[in-house]
Amino acid sequence: MSRPRKGIILAGGSGTRLYPITMGVSKQLLPVFDKPMIYYPLSVLMLAGIRDIAIITTPEDQAQFQRLMGDGSAWGLSFTWLEQPRPEGLAQAYLLAEAFLDGAPSAMVLGDNLFFGHGLPELLQAAGQAEGGTVFGYRVADPERYGVVDFDAQGQVRTIVEKPPVAPSPFAVTGLYFLDGTAPERARRVTPSARGELEIVSVLESYLAEGALQVQQMGRGYAWLDTGTHGSLLDAGNFVRTLSERQGQQIGSPDEIAHAQGWIDDADLRARAEVFGKNAYGAYLLGLLGEAP
Ligand code: DAU
Repeated sequence: MSRPRKGIILAGGSGTRLYPITMGVSKQLLPVFDKPMIYYPLSVLMLAGIRDIAIITTPEDQAQFQRLMGDGSAWGLSFTWLEQPRPEGLAQAYLLAEAFLDGAPSAMVLGDNLFFGHGLPELLQAAGQAEGGTVFGYRVADPERYGVVDFDAQGQVRTIVEKPPVAPSPFAVTGLYFLDGTAPERARRVTPSARGELEIVSVLESYLAEGALQVQQMGRGYAWLDTGTHGSLLDAGNFVRTLSERQGQQIGSPDEIAHAQGWIDDADLRARAEVFGKNAYGAYLLGLLGEAP
């Protein structure tokens, strides 16, 4: 089989829609209930079994991300830190990460995307095994805000359009892209759009033109949450709180997932729990070991 898939978390951007909050801190470091936003997309890559991950941030914010996440070894991961000087589009991530990827297939997740749902690990692992490219279509009430899948009369994907004024379908493309090793060379052929960005949909179109793109439906049993506005950020936090407090189980804990994957052992998890003192997150991690705080 092919080489192990590597991960990319794109966590740059200017976050202007969340001003004034994001004038002082990166959007992807903001809390979604009890954890920083970036923990959630990181967890998605970990659930896909990916351990070698490039994290792309603005140059200004990188030190804060590093303080939070280190080199990944606390979770049995390896992080490569990359800078994006200006937010020139999602496809630019593949150019910035080209040397890191070194021809390997990848899974890129946007640092502000939250996914939750029964069977998510299986869905991710299946995408990880597929050839070409795989993206996920998710029904939303406001598709015009996203990349949208355009189907023909036979239900085949015709194209993917970025923020169409009138959406051809209610299916948005989520910010999670499983692409093969050719993604950087495809990204190199992309020219800036009318809004001046290297669009991810242009990369996806190049796969589509070769019949090499799969659009997997992420059904209604999944939550794909947006954190793009003050209201949706709060809603995402409330969603995580409601579910995790009801179930007594964490959503998006890299510590729990690393332990469940066998990438860290009991002693490592205990050491992590001690970092959090007696707070609820630390107590939860100790609880996974059958221990009380
Ligand atoms: O969330 C899914 C959507 O993400 C897709 O449906 C769209 O096809 C895709 O273009 C993207 O749309 P957005 O308009 O939501 O992208 P936005 O500019 O908000 O950027 C998404 C995240 O990526 C955001 O947290 C900032 C970060 N980013 C963005 C750009 C353009 C970067 O780190 N660097 C960039 O150059």
